[in-house]
Amino acid sequence: MKTRWYKDSVFYQIYPRSFCDSNGDGIGDIKGIISKLDYLKSLGITAVWLSPCYKSPNDDNGYDISDYRDIMDEFGTLDDWKEMIEGMHKRGIKLVMDLVVNHTSDEHEWFKQSRSSIDNPYRDYYFWRKGSGKDGKKPPNNWTSRFGGSAWAYDEQTGEYYLHLFSKKQPDLNWDNPKVRQEVVDICNYWFELGVDGFRCDVIIYISKQEGLPNAKWNPFTCGDEYFVIGPHYHEYIHEINQKSWSKYDIMTVGEGQGITVADAESMVAEPREELDAIFTFEHQEADARMSVVPRKFKLSRFKKIMTSWQNIPNTCWNSLFLENHDYSRSIPRYIKPEFRKEGAKMLAVTMNFMKGTPYIFQGQEIGMTNIEHFKPKDYVDIVSKNVYKIAKKIFPLVPVVKWALQKRARDHARTPMQWSAEENAGFTTGTPWMYVNPNYKEINVAEAEADPDSVLNFYRKINKFRVGNKIIKDGTYNEFYAKSDKVFVYARELHGVSYLVAANWTHKVVEFDLPEQFKGKTSKLVMSNYFDSKEEAGDCNLMPYEAVVWEIK
Ligand code: NOJ
Repeated sequence: MKTRWYKDSVFYQIYPRSFCDSNGDGIGDIKGIISKLDYLKSLGITAVWLSPCYKSPNDDNGYDISDYRDIMDEFGTLDDWKEMIEGMHKRGIKLVMDLVVNHTSDEHEWFKQSRSSIDNPYRDYYFWRKGSGKDGKKPPNNWTSRFGGSAWAYDEQTGEYYLHLFSKKQPDLNWDNPKVRQEVVDICNYWFELGVDGFRCDVIIYISKQEGLPNAKWNPFTCGDEYFVIGPHYHEYIHEINQKSWSKYDIMTVGEGQGITVADAESMVAEPREELDAIFTFEHQEADARMSVVPRKFKLSRFKKIMTSWQNIPNTCWNSLFLENHDYSRSIPRYIKPEFRKEGAKMLAVTMNFMKGTPYIFQGQEIGMTNIEHFKPKDYVDIVSKNVYKIAKKIFPLVPVVKWALQKRARDHARTPMQWSAEENAGFTTGTPWMYVNPNYKEINVAEAEADPDSVLNFYRKINKFRVGNKIIKDGTYNEFYAKSDKVFVYARELHGVSYLVAANWTHKVVEFDLPEQFKGKTSKLVMSNYFDSKEEAGDCNLMPYEAVVWEIK
């Protein structure tokens, strides 16, 4: 029986490679996570989303899986993993794993079999096609990989091309084959039997491709997404997995929803559909970027419009609240002036965490980690950054533009090692870190934040404590004020006559705030704020730079 426990949860996302290294090889690992379980508990989070830890040749840091039932050597063993989940459960923390089944690694046994001959029983686990053009030397269609270049790779052995919407080492699984879908069911059930509490489903919306794999009409704004996003059998296939696996356990699923707009929400996650429980939309990432990646000036009103539209999805649906994950640069440089790092980080936490939905904190966000200020091309280790840079070098005038875009948006920024202390390598490893450590670790680190009662870390603890089990935040209505303002984000959550009025100044200047008419003359008190002298009772006031207040009003 499903209890929908995730509606009361606060999640913490761990990117294991960069979290904590226990054995000095420079790579984060499971024993490292185990050593930080008390820290996680102390944060007040109640669930962890763990990015992939399965066996993988690491072309895309674990998002290319070669064995779904075992742990990556660099991260440890299945026994370590069992100790980790036991430790989490003992502390009341659920574990949600990453389910990466749009594609496998090309080193997965299925693909090795599949590429070995045209009549191998695994051939149809993937998309194989003959080349096009007179001499058959061109890719079968014009689809492009999300990581750059054609989405097809030629394979000498059988003289055909295979489809890969991501890297060449991530061949797409053919979900039209019922055997593939059964494999997915078996993988899910395997982990559920081991105690896993759910899955974050990687690029799940890509699983059903257009029949006949037709050429895409070139549209620079979608890059052909309409040929893969929510394809013709998407709903049918997801419902099937739900019925054969997910619905049989008290678990949750949250899908990665690149390209999903609010108009799709109901069809994706409404409870009666029995598909996914929730989805990550990336619409709000558009507020300071086009197509989520090309930087543009941040506009608060644009951001609010999107957030509000998602807050108003039907009650049968559920939201996911996040600003950061392993695919985006850090939120502080995106929204906050650097001199207000702490106030700004707390303001973002208030704005997001009083909304309806399940919040996700990405590792390091709780101490206000920032981007690397001056990445040199050689410091980028992510496959996407490297590919984009390689392409730019071929079209030389693009180099400065790409450098600028990477400096703002590269995925590398989120993946720098977690900053635990001011010791060498931020206390992440005693060895040579697998990737660049942000030099600001001397000032921004967990040890420093622990010692400072006013730190971003301690503020997150306060909010998490306030939020978990709070019925107004979980079930209250949402009502926005001053929607057009590019300075303040103001909304109220209300349940049974009690409201939380959230007023957040998103600028580095003092802003005048007028209490909305309907709250005037009521009893109120301050329940959350990031300044020590915020106004105790709801009323007109000046909000200091990035000040955020929440008043309870009856
Ligand atoms: C989405 C993941 O979040 C990202 O890190 C990965 O590169 C792609 N899916 C491909 O699996």
